Amino acid sequence: MTVVLVDLTSAELAQRWPSMIALFADAMVENYGVSPAEAAAEAERQTDELLPAGVHTAGQLLRKGMDGDDEVGFLWISLPGTTYDTMAWIAEVSVRADRRSRGYGSAMLRAGEADLVERGVRRVGLHVFGVNTGARRLYRRLGYQVLAQLRTRPVGAPQTTVELEPMSEPEYAARLSEVVERHPVALTRDPLAPAARAREVARVLAPQGVDSPNVFLRHAVSGGRPVGWIWFSLPGPHRPGTGAIHYLTIDEPYRRRGLGRALLAAAEAEYARHDVGRLGLWIAGPDAGRFADALGLEVSSEQLVKDL
Ligand SMILES: CC(C)(COP(=O)(O)OP(=O)(O)OC[C@H]1O[C@@H](n2cnc3c(N)ncnc32)[C@H](O)[C@@H]1OP(=O)(O)O)[C@@H](O)C(=O)NCCC(=O)NCCS
Repeated sequence: MTVVLVDLTSAELAQRWPSMIALFADAMVENYGVSPAEAAAEAERQTDELLPAGVHTAGQLLRKGMDGDDEVGFLWISLPGTTYDTMAWIAEVSVRADRRSRGYGSAMLRAGEADLVERGVRRVGLHVFGVNTGARRLYRRLGYQVLAQLRTRPVGAPQTTVELEPMSEPEYAARLSEVVERHPVALTRDPLAPAARAREVARVLAPQGVDSPNVFLRHAVSGGRPVGWIWFSLPGPHRPGTGAIHYLTIDEPYRRRGLGRALLAAAEAEYARHDVGRLGLWIAGPDAGRFADALGLEVSSEQLVKDL
């Protein structure tokens, strides 16, 4: 079987548009708890923004997968300089429902990757929801690797030995510099992005620094001593039910003593006070992955990358 990618015409995009919006909106409803009406409006807004000139939008490759005369699926790739500066991004890959489990998904992705290589693109990424286990298996088989994951669980009523204490602006600046220098990917989710990009993300997540509304930048204190810090937010409109923990660290001398677990529980207690139903921890890197595994946090979504 040979799959060839053929550019979509404007008429074909118009025909496909409702199903693209529906797929995107359904994912928001199912995974983020957004209401169906809001999800549809948001999906339409974001898709319009990505494709201002439809199929002629620079940097956006919208193609159908053809097996001979048979249209088997759709592949949308955003070139570097659009969604991400440093890598291509697979915005959608879908195989027609009645053509699934025949290898067309892999074939379309391989064809898309080969085309990227010809264009001199060295890296491609994508986002997939945790519940989509079939797609996640497929991407792993094709050599995609986890760059970052959102790991979630319901908020309980935890006991904790860690107290959260406010940070001053200079203390936050010092902590942020550590992340930007040592672990920028935790904020950028793009290993090639410059440190400046991590600072931009930080300004979006905490626009007024330690005084940002609905944002908690806190020292972790145990037995009267500072042992680390945490940065988390109350849920925003894009994920109404889930609070986001952007970063947490236990300082090296204090690791592997249960303090990371206790720090997460302290954030959880704060979420419980605000009636937040679910917590989500963004992780990047294998240590954080093992920590999230030990704490029973499920994969809600993940970002994968592949070097071409
Ligand atoms: C991830 C981190 C916060 C864990 O803190 P910690 O205090 O060492 O974690 P705890 O001692 O509370 O461990 C909790 C559980 O995670 C497991 N765990 C933690 N780090 C682990 C590692 N590197 N490898 C394997 N398991 C690990 C522990 O074994 C423990 O499991 P258990 O209770 O079943 O025994 C800490 O390593 C850290 O600050 N890392 C750098 C920053 C970072 O990666 N932050 C997370 C991303 S936001």
